[in-house]
Amino acid sequence: MANDNKGWDPSQLRKCDLEFEEIPRFVYNDPRVDEFISENKPVVILGSKLAKAAEKWTLDYLEKNMGNGDFTVFLSKNHKFKYYDDKKSMLKSNSDFIPPTKKLDMKLPEFIKRLREWKKGDDRLYLQQGLNNTVGPAIVHDFLNFDWNFCTSKQSKHNWGPLTSNLLLIGMEGNVTPCHYDEQQNLFAQVHGYKRCILFPPDQFDCLYPHPVHHPHDRQSMVDFDKPDYSRFPKFREARGCETVIGPGEVLYIPMYWWHHIESLMRGSYTVTVNFWYKGGPNGTVTYPLKGHQKVAVMRNVEKMLLDVLQDPKEIPPLLRAMVLGRYTE
Ligand code: OGA
Ligand code: FE
Repeated sequence: MANDNKGWDPSQLRKCDLEFEEIPRFVYNDPRVDEFISENKPVVILGSKLAKAAEKWTLDYLEKNMGNGDFTVFLSKNHKFKYYDDKKSMLKSNSDFIPPTKKLDMKLPEFIKRLREWKKGDDRLYLQQGLNNTVGPAIVHDFLNFDWNFCTSKQSKHNWGPLTSNLLLIGMEGNVTPCHYDEQQNLFAQVHGYKRCILFPPDQFDCLYPHPVHHPHDRQSMVDFDKPDYSRFPKFREARGCETVIGPGEVLYIPMYWWHHIESLMRGSYTVTVNFWYKGGPNGTVTYPLKGHQKVAVMRNVEKMLLDVLQDPKEIPPLLRAMVLGRYTE
């Protein structure tokens, strides 16, 4: 894939069995940006000033100005940081779930010290914390200087709901967030270092095999991209995705319900990202056939309803089998 800006080279990408198309890249005022967003298609937005105020967020600056609040930091023995839902992991039916990462509370200076001292082979850390009112005044100042006009105009033009949060992500080189989807619109603003983002449309549900909705890994693909188990997940071979590498100042629009796998490039530097998560808009008039993301929403609701009435997740598969096999299958 292209790397005209030379901030990275293809040998820094993890290997993957699939091939990808390139996500298009347009300057922020190109009308095609809004065409893509309105069609719920990913696009890289260049030259916006969305998170320019965070350009100076070096480790020294963050250490000095982030304040004394606690930050959520995940610790992983390998490069993968697969998200899990704490509440769902507490359910009786998930009592044998072993969290793949440890969730820690850390002060920022402690995190940055460990980031600086990290060497290959050590446990990895990934800070993922919503920006909140514990941050120091300089950070508040920078936050207020984000280009709110830019994101608010996207929000109103495309009928998004309210902004829910700004997640700050500080990762080590080589960290991977495995493939998952979120139920929100995302303006993903890269601040420092380079991230490879691989996206798949919502209609590839059957190629990506999400965990059941009640599972702590709800919304996460069961496929391990490092070593896909094709006997369990044969349709993963048919997955058709697109990718890009984003660097400082670039913003990736990740449409709601789109699958994304994100890796901080290997042998790069630490990465800093700030995302802008917006609720989806109201449905408006629904047209048929339903779109991929609407069908995903339907499937989620069916799963939730079945669990609600059956109570035990173990009862779901036999019921679905009885309902489908020989009746809705050839
Ligand atoms: C997101 C996301 C992960 C990452 O912003 O929705 O999944 O590693 N980020 O940046
Ligand atoms: Fe995500």
